[in-house]
Amino acid sequence: MKYLIKVLFFFYSQISKMQQYFLFKYYRKSGAIIGKNTYLGPNVYLDVSHKPGKIVIGDNCYVTRNSSILVHSDAFLGGPLQKWKGKGGERLIGNIIIGDNVFIGFHCVVLPGVSIGDNAVIGAMTLVNKDVPMNAIVVGVPGKIVGYITDKVSIYNE
Ligand SMILES: CC(C)(COP(=O)(O)OP(=O)(O)OC[C@H]1O[C@@H](n2cnc3c(N)ncnc32)[C@H](O)[C@@H]1OP(=O)(O)O)[C@@H](O)C(=O)NCCC(=O)NCCS
Repeated sequence: MKYLIKVLFFFYSQISKMQQYFLFKYYRKSGAIIGKNTYLGPNVYLDVSHKPGKIVIGDNCYVTRNSSILVHSDAFLGGPLQKWKGKGGERLIGNIIIGDNVFIGFHCVVLPGVSIGDNAVIGAMTLVNKDVPMNAIVVGVPGKIVGYITDKVSIYNE
């Protein structure tokens, strides 16, 4: 029985790794630019299907589990979200640019059109609705700057 459980755990871990691998490939193929040594945790959602929105994530970033990075605010199918359309009826899309060495904690949401500077730390469950300067530590809903990283540190060392 113990042996069977070990085998099941092994397969489970391999399936998770494969999911991660294919998700990464899918995001890159769909136009997201993801730098070297950048990690995307399980269930990280990059909103790559809403063109022409672009997502650029730099090197050595760590985006943790269940965070979502969005490039669109409108609802193309209409309903009450028709409000979020350009004056000419065009889609409201905002690119996301994330610098190098950025850490994004559990369950964050990054809203369209936002840039996050190098070495920034985004605390768990933060709503990033404004640009984040380099080295800033931002927490809360909506996200507010509560400090700065003083030494340049690589958040993610593999
Ligand atoms: C942002 C973070 C790194 C700050 O850690 P810290 O420097 O130890 O911060 P502190 O716990 O001293 O908190 C400082 C203040 O910010 C607040 N705060 C910290 N993190 C917060 C968050 N995520 N959301 C809202 N407020 C937060 C604290 O309540 C405290 O406020 P107060 O001074 O009014 O009491 C940490 O809180 C965090 O969110 N880490 C990410 C966790 C995570 O996602 N882990 C997964 C890793 S794979």
